[in-house]
Amino acid sequence: MKIEDCYKIIEFQDLGDERGNLVVIEGGGMDIPFEIQRVFYIYASDADVVRGQHANRETEFLLVNVSGSSKVRIDNGEESVVVELNKPRMGVYIPNMVWKDMYDFSEDSVLLVLASRHYDGAEYIRNYEDYLKILSESRG
Ligand code: TYD
Repeated sequence: MKIEDCYKIIEFQDLGDERGNLVVIEGGGMDIPFEIQRVFYIYASDADVVRGQHANRETEFLLVNVSGSSKVRIDNGEESVVVELNKPRMGVYIPNMVWKDMYDFSEDSVLLVLASRHYDGAEYIRNYEDYLKILSESRG
């Protein structure tokens, strides 16, 4: 997969008014290209922590910093890009079989993650060498 196809930055609509902001993320192909089966969020990670460090055989993700900021490095085994998440209206969609590292968490960072699958530890590839091997096998 070309690196341009390994992520998509999505700007969500703000339906807010004088009472405050309201951002809606509809699954199932409306705002993001998958049905949401799982939601988790990461907060109180120190600035020097690197999270993620895995690829998923099946799961697609959407990451939003609903508070604060963090960075995600997206890697396809050949190239990588860094996306800074720093707006509650901005998400990054990451398809399956893409390596990702999340880091540079601000103190107030709350990183919301929407996932297309329930948790299954067996579909996580947590070793980068294994990831490269699986990629080259899938290319034939
Ligand atoms: P981990 O995958 O290391 O988190 P991250 O990729 O966000 O840095 O997960 C930490 C622990 O939590 C690990 O033991 C697996 C477990 N976990 C679940 O049980 N369900 C989940 O949805 C997630 C994301 C993690």
